[in-house]
Amino acid sequence: MYALRVKRENAQEKIIELKNSGDYDDLRRVLRVKDEVLIPVKTKLPGAILKKLSPTGKKRSLKDLFGIGSFDLIGDTIIIWIPNELIDKKKEIGEHALKMYPAVKAVYSKVSAVSGKYRVPKLELIAGKAGVTTHLENGLRFKLNVKKAYFSARQSGERLKLTKYVRDGDEVCVLFAGIGPIPVYVSKKTKAKRIVAVEINPDAVKFMIENFSINKCENTTAICGDAKVIYPTIGTFDLLILPLPKSSIDFTNEAHSLLKLGGRAIFYMASQKEELSSKIKKLKGFEVEKIRREIEISPGEYRYVVHVRRK
Ligand SMILES: C[S@@+](CC[C@H](N)C(=O)[O-])C[C@H]1O[C@@H](n2cnc3c(N)ncnc32)[C@H](O)[C@@H]1O
Repeated sequence: MYALRVKRENAQEKIIELKNSGDYDDLRRVLRVKDEVLIPVKTKLPGAILKKLSPTGKKRSLKDLFGIGSFDLIGDTIIIWIPNELIDKKKEIGEHALKMYPAVKAVYSKVSAVSGKYRVPKLELIAGKAGVTTHLENGLRFKLNVKKAYFSARQSGERLKLTKYVRDGDEVCVLFAGIGPIPVYVSKKTKAKRIVAVEINPDAVKFMIENFSINKCENTTAICGDAKVIYPTIGTFDLLILPLPKSSIDFTNEAHSLLKLGGRAIFYMASQKEELSSKIKKLKGFEVEKIRREIEISPGEYRYVVHVRRK
């Protein structure tokens, strides 16, 4: 509850200085008293006086209070990676996140990164109530249970980019389709003829079918199964999308069989810069048309988008 008393003509400059040093308390209002101004500050700085100033109505962010600068927001669910030194405060962090964002119903701590066959992260509920959520993105809706199926809200830009590679009338197959964001984008934002989506996690497939329905997709089919096993039974396509960065390369033969002659495939690949060319060499039967480096996924490891054509 401290404030600095300064002459009115010096107030603006002082406020800027205090904001830059991080001492300005933006939760309380500045007060003018005759030719002086009382500026709220967070701590007892030299010359500060004790003064009650009225609140601005702003709330302290997770960054202000705990140094947590980012988190994922999926529908009405927040997922936070809490560093080890703050684990004891996880409940406090969760409750504060609920207060900050009144529309949020559940806050999870991310215990481990995505892992296992279903690429699901290990999550622990730290505040609110667990349940199914619906994420809105570029006019589309995605329903899911974040504990049971993979979904990343951070990839919305990439999903949109992907639609630019779909040609009118394309027959498209999306392997590793999860809860269906890519097939839904292709269905609603391109003139693809039909889209077949394959996913091994039955929980994800259940949501994918629901997402096809709530987005009114009329040209999509969801198939639950292992792409390695079912690929000979689903026909051939003009475009194949393989969003499984850690192991899409292991599906090179299946990809070749799923494409018409001259058909295109988009492989998402995780790789260190130095290892990329040896991975690309494994794409037997394909001509590489374009490689785009998307993002860094861990120190020195990148996600690449590799566009190829079946020879
Ligand atoms: C990285 S996630 C991507 C999901 C989705 N494309 C998205 O962008 O949200 C990969 C998905 O592939 C699925 N998967 C892994 N191996 C598979 C396989 N052999 N056959 C079919 N799906 C598989 C996992 O269950 C997971 O849902």
